[in-house]
Amino acid sequence: MVTQMKTLEDYKNAYKKSVENPEEFWAEQAGNFTWKQKWDKVLDWNFKEPNIKWFEGGKLNITENCLDRHLEERGDKTAILWVPNEPDADDRKFTYKELYTEVNKFANGLKKKGIKKGDRVIFYMPMIPELAIGMLACARIGAIHSIVFAGFSAQSLADRIIDAQAKMVICSDYNKRGAKNIPVKKVVDDALKMGCDSIDTVVVHKNTGGDIEWNDNIDLYLHDMLDGVEDFCEPEVMDAEDPLFILYTSGSTGKPKGVVHTTGGYMIYTAYTFKNVFQYQEKDIYWCTADIGWITGHSYIVYGPLLEGATTMMFEGVPTYPDAGRFWEIVEKYKVNQFYTAPTAIRALMAQGNEYVDKYDLSSLKVLGTVGEPINDEAWYWYYDVVGKRSKPIVDTWWQTETGGILISPLPCITDMRPTYASYPLPGVQPILVDPEGNLIEENGVEGLLCIKYPWPGMLRTTWGDHERCRQTYFSAFPDLYFTGDGARRDEDGRYRIIGRVDDVLNVSGHRIGTAEVENAINTAPGVVESAVVGYPHDIKGQGIYAFVITKGQVDDENAFKKQIIDMVRVEIGPIAKPDIIQLVPGLPKTRSGKIMRRILRKIASGDMSNVGDISTLLNPEVVEEIKKSAPTL
Ligand code: PRX
Repeated sequence: MVTQMKTLEDYKNAYKKSVENPEEFWAEQAGNFTWKQKWDKVLDWNFKEPNIKWFEGGKLNITENCLDRHLEERGDKTAILWVPNEPDADDRKFTYKELYTEVNKFANGLKKKGIKKGDRVIFYMPMIPELAIGMLACARIGAIHSIVFAGFSAQSLADRIIDAQAKMVICSDYNKRGAKNIPVKKVVDDALKMGCDSIDTVVVHKNTGGDIEWNDNIDLYLHDMLDGVEDFCEPEVMDAEDPLFILYTSGSTGKPKGVVHTTGGYMIYTAYTFKNVFQYQEKDIYWCTADIGWITGHSYIVYGPLLEGATTMMFEGVPTYPDAGRFWEIVEKYKVNQFYTAPTAIRALMAQGNEYVDKYDLSSLKVLGTVGEPINDEAWYWYYDVVGKRSKPIVDTWWQTETGGILISPLPCITDMRPTYASYPLPGVQPILVDPEGNLIEENGVEGLLCIKYPWPGMLRTTWGDHERCRQTYFSAFPDLYFTGDGARRDEDGRYRIIGRVDDVLNVSGHRIGTAEVENAINTAPGVVESAVVGYPHDIKGQGIYAFVITKGQVDDENAFKKQIIDMVRVEIGPIAKPDIIQLVPGLPKTRSGKIMRRILRKIASGDMSNVGDISTLLNPEVVEEIKKSAPTL
């Protein structure tokens, strides 16, 4: 088990050591795990190529660390506690022993179907235990899992399958989410018609038993795959730097890229940050409400908690079903100790009124966490006052798909809290602020671009199939620095507050969406000439999506036209990316070199018409006035 800091002194000492002697610091943590062979070298790195290797030569299997090593001490402890969508349906509990057996069987099932070390397996599934079991089964045999959030469209799923050249897709027949019953297998069928030639098998978990189309050549029920398999599977010997998973995420250009995380460093980093940020104690019930389709679910529902022998809860449903008290009903029922959610959920529940919270006994809570987007003052105080009754620490955790684990966060009851500040870096993390020219900003009380100047074990190593894209995206803006894409403020005491993305990436309800992706989708709709997408402040979602669209000639039925655009985005990406506002415009403000001036569009979208700044250098300054005139009042 990793070291748990308990006092401010512990934090200060750990931080100091992690900066002065990072290799010794991380080697000490690595020594707490089961290795089949010790590493040759703790760290080898440069941010130029980039080339980052932690614990090279070390051999291990992460599932031995998540499962096997707990069997003796906590074999009968609940590892996964699953809460279903329907409040009156039965929950499911897997002890560490049971989870171990399920993972071993699933791993043997995968092997039976020819999956081996290095093969890619895509999951397109709801929040059910089979998803966590399947991921771990991949890790057991060294296959690389890539989980696709089940809200993405067939096209998005196909893009990921093709990019990863995956051999297998594992899905359910239907997903239950709130009052909806979503035909997931159908989405997989549609994706497979889009050129996913690498797929040999579609494994279907019978979740609801609803009607699906069946293709004997490719489809296989999960229960049939697992029929008669042995319940022990020898864990594959992995190098610390062998890939563990690929997770696709949006950037400012092009299609989503496959962020690659490797085995050893990710393991140590997620375990260390889980144990410390949530101050997990052996008997605690920990609940992260994220979906496993996002990095938060990977690191803080599955890997981090299981590595530390925790009881981790998985919830199939949504916060507002059957009503806005669902989260709090679950907290009371299972006496949840650590609760980790997104600001969007907090804002949505806040809007429903305090009575939904006040009905329940939340005294079991010890730590409240948030992640994924900036939390505004109002939401922070509501979480603190109404949910936490002014006595529970809030950890506002800042990190990214690329970082693998939390980088900046308060430590509950150890470091202080300042509302809306993610505050101090965790041990091993060396953040800095630079100005747009890359000059280091040393003083406090300033804003700048957030970069990290030294590697940490959980960081991405590459982007799948395109290392140059990784270099270009994260390591080329400023020499020898990892650039996060975020702007941040550092207060007088050195606490960080994340302001938000400074690139063309939107954060809508905590979901990361590239403006270029949405524009590409809109541009494929009939009658569209060109479009520009920007974010604007949205009370619940944090950011909403605002699309400026140039049409081919006059549009007869504006509503029908806009609906067509929205449908196109749904089909190309998924419902999470659909525009909230579409404005039809005669032109887009452009520089003389033809670049869209998004700065101006952002101002207009946020209703700040009087302050669009200098437009004299534009190719077409007159268009700004026209757009302003026809902008809807928000
Ligand atoms: O802008 C930051 C925001 O979410 C981005 C990363 O998104 P993603 O890779 O999807 O990972 C989300 C979950 C780790 C960041 O670049 N972000 C994340 N956490 C915070 C945040 N913004 C402000 N405060 C946070 N705590």
